Amino acid sequence: MQRTGWKEAVVYQVYPVSFRDSDGDGLGDLAGITEKLDYLVELGVSVVWICPFFRSPWVDNGYDISDYRDIDPRFGSMADFGRLLSEMHRRGLKLLMDLVVNHCSDRHPWFTEARKSRDNPYRDYFLWRDPKPDGSPPNNWTSYFSGPAWTFDEATGQFYLHLFTKEMPDLNWENPALRREIHDILRFWLDKGVDGFRLDSMHAYGKAAGLPDGDPSEGPPVGIEHFSSLPRTHGYIREMHREVFSRYGILTVGETDGVTVEDALQYTAEASGEVNMVFQFQHMDLDAAGGNRLLADGPVPVRKLKACLSDWQRGLMNRGWNSLYLSNHDQPRQVSRFGDDGVYREVSAKMLATILHLQQGTPYVYQGEELGMTNRRIESLEEVRDVESLNAYRDLVGRGLVTPGRMLEAIRRRGRDNARTPMQWDGSVHAGFTSGTPWIGVNPNYRDINAEAQRKDPDSVFQYYRKLIALRRAHPVAVYGDFTELCADSGQVFAFVRRLEETALLVVANLAREPAVFDLPEGLRFRESALYIANYDCGDVPRSGVLRPYEAQAFRLEGVEG
Ligand code: GLC
Repeated sequence: MQRTGWKEAVVYQVYPVSFRDSDGDGLGDLAGITEKLDYLVELGVSVVWICPFFRSPWVDNGYDISDYRDIDPRFGSMADFGRLLSEMHRRGLKLLMDLVVNHCSDRHPWFTEARKSRDNPYRDYFLWRDPKPDGSPPNNWTSYFSGPAWTFDEATGQFYLHLFTKEMPDLNWENPALRREIHDILRFWLDKGVDGFRLDSMHAYGKAAGLPDGDPSEGPPVGIEHFSSLPRTHGYIREMHREVFSRYGILTVGETDGVTVEDALQYTAEASGEVNMVFQFQHMDLDAAGGNRLLADGPVPVRKLKACLSDWQRGLMNRGWNSLYLSNHDQPRQVSRFGDDGVYREVSAKMLATILHLQQGTPYVYQGEELGMTNRRIESLEEVRDVESLNAYRDLVGRGLVTPGRMLEAIRRRGRDNARTPMQWDGSVHAGFTSGTPWIGVNPNYRDINAEAQRKDPDSVFQYYRKLIALRRAHPVAVYGDFTELCADSGQVFAFVRRLEETALLVVANLAREPAVFDLPEGLRFRESALYIANYDCGDVPRSGVLRPYEAQAFRLEGVEG
């Protein structure tokens, strides 16, 4: 397998509206990110992915873009962007931008033109269809954000397709003129010096010819088998690679909901000429009730999580490449979801980091994860900001399918706002995020959980992340080593060996709060061992024994035989 910088990178994800507000309007901004670059350098990451900061009517927090070539005024100006990029480069940080081109905003000039008339030159940038004879939508597809995926446009008498909200019409990738525009947008930013793109909803670019009805049992959303990772989508990506990516040598990450290991191999195998890595969702959806992400059925069973992570490790090993993540701006906080955000918050946050960073793939750290930030308990619907949660509430409660109480509980547990509360910088008012009124409530635990305190504390979650990131940089086995799972039958212990020639890493973790027994496999022979990292006191020699709650240990083994 080829060794490359992006495989060795650790990516930090910034959700800009909640990261740092430099001007007191309650909204994070680009100058705020610039202020905090030294913090990212201290943490040790090498790539920073910043979620969209382009001009947007803000229906979906910036994922609805009305001008791909301009900065939204809430985030600052193009000059602020230039300063941010040059300050990043000066520190050796690379910038990964979010490219959201499955859809745009309904206020983008392409769409305002398109809806003027059926023969407008931009009409074919979108997917328009006549109603069925009874006036209903052209097919039964539903949106990721509840309700039908079609909205009727009175003026021109046709429906348009939107896989997200009705203010986010899907772009018609079949149209070569549209694809050329997108290539130009990519070049515009690449010529400014950005280092890569995260391609939002990339799996959905191509839609099946004829837009056939979906099988409801495949959803939600209904229709997914007709728009998820189709051969034509791979074709569009190869074309982008040929026309743009390959000419700049950049990092590309595809967000690919619903992908299987086989799809991911096709997207990322070195010979495919598509993207460098994917974000797959299987481990994120293990608790989705009947396919509905918000209606989670309680905690993810450890056995299921282990099996899923291991399947992906084995499936892509040395052939494709994965993004390693347990949280992002669309998911609850990982320590609340997979660990324990009460008494074991710190150890479980460190344990989750250990198992994630030591798999094969590129680790991502979502802002605040490195502090062990937790979900914030919302008390009422008025506190909810996220369009996905609000639409789901309206739909499911409105149709009498779910009670208001259950829905609020679901939003508390799984809602995207959990990850979007402001970054907790220090113990001052509003956690040092803003001097104004934050756009979304700060988690009240910021006095205990914040960056300033953790930077000073050698045992903090932050310091643990620093160490983990530095170790990964120093030891190629953590990046390139093969993966072999141990004790796959255990309902608590996730253990694996990463092996690169004579060197190996042995990673052992208890994923539960009850103690668990770990048996060192007899066949594992090595000349010497040293402790790599652990979240409790622990010697240099791995041994069988009892693991404490959420205990994680990793050892470096030399002279490994067999
Ligand atoms: C992706 C983004 C999410 C957004 C959606 C629509 O899944 O991560 O935040 O709502 O696409 O753009």
